Amino acid sequence: MGKQEFEELLFQAFCWLHQHPELGFEEYETTKHIKEILREHGVRILDLPMKTGLVAEIGRGGPTIALRADIDALPVTEKTELPYRSLVSGRMHACGHDFHTTTMLGAAILLKERETELPGTVRMIFQPAEEVSGGARAVLDTGILRDVRFICGLHVLPSLPVGTLGLKAGAASASVDRFWIRIIGKGSHAAHPDDGTDPIVAAACLISAAQTIVSRNVDPASANLISFTHVEGGNTWNVIPSEVLLEGTIRSLSKTDRAFLKRRLSEMTDSIGKAYGTRTEMDWYEGPPPTDNDPEWIAAAAALAKERGFTVTVPHTTLIGEDFAFYQEELTGVFAFVGTGLGPSIHSPKFQADPKAIAPASEYFAAMAETALRRIVERED
Ligand code: NI
Repeated sequence: MGKQEFEELLFQAFCWLHQHPELGFEEYETTKHIKEILREHGVRILDLPMKTGLVAEIGRGGPTIALRADIDALPVTEKTELPYRSLVSGRMHACGHDFHTTTMLGAAILLKERETELPGTVRMIFQPAEEVSGGARAVLDTGILRDVRFICGLHVLPSLPVGTLGLKAGAASASVDRFWIRIIGKGSHAAHPDDGTDPIVAAACLISAAQTIVSRNVDPASANLISFTHVEGGNTWNVIPSEVLLEGTIRSLSKTDRAFLKRRLSEMTDSIGKAYGTRTEMDWYEGPPPTDNDPEWIAAAAALAKERGFTVTVPHTTLIGEDFAFYQEELTGVFAFVGTGLGPSIHSPKFQADPKAIAPASEYFAAMAETALRRIVERED
């Protein structure tokens, strides 16, 4: 396929995906569309018990490695003026997963052309539901990664210009935990706080005190955070409510700090609750751990990206989460950031990715798959 034809095909796929965003585990049309494109190019699709998303395969035996792209969108209403903006109100590819999907379709086409020369097999995971962080687990549960030796993923990064690849050894994204705290007191007339137990004052104390966990209890040179993002209690001015709900997130680049932050927040909730005469309840949703990029493989990816004409940089540290980290708990992997032009950040209703970055990212993805297979085969010789 000629360069221009290839770029045009990718642009069309990208526009379609961008116009038809679907939320996690609801990516039915997206899955259908991906399958159609893969079938047109003779790429085999594995028969797996997946409701949405799919795994495709190229190669003829030998060692197996995987590429992964996430396919889900966000509950955001798009506010760009793009000719191919979302056709669905309240749904948008605001995290660039349409870009990732297109990139991997491109990689599939390139790898298919080289199938007879590949020294192994490449599985392409079109993963559902990254944003709700259940998708990676759903893929792992199919068992399709059991014989996989290496995995490679990527994410758009609008703060990097097109032509730049961000590669960072170790943690390139943070662990993500979500918490809920209920502070249960006793409601009363606002003029008679002495008749009740005020959960709002207890909540205010806890929110303030929790700020000292990151600022006083962990290494100041490390990257950790606790954010309260949702506070709910009471509904008028002259009644003290009986309950306050707090919700928020804990993030860290270190597994040790992650465990410590959770323990400290639990202790504080418990003791502050007691100090104010209230009862507390806590719930957790454990998201992904920090990503964990193998330094040797990062060096190999950087060398390859430079060869392909990319500018390689170490991306700015961020505490966003990425469920690619679940794969890295099971196997070695590299997660890269692709520069998609200076623009609004991901999850913004004005986010956009420059389509010019797609074809080079596809080439990197395909080349990385082939390089990984060759490295694995060489090591075995
Ligand atoms: Ni994302």
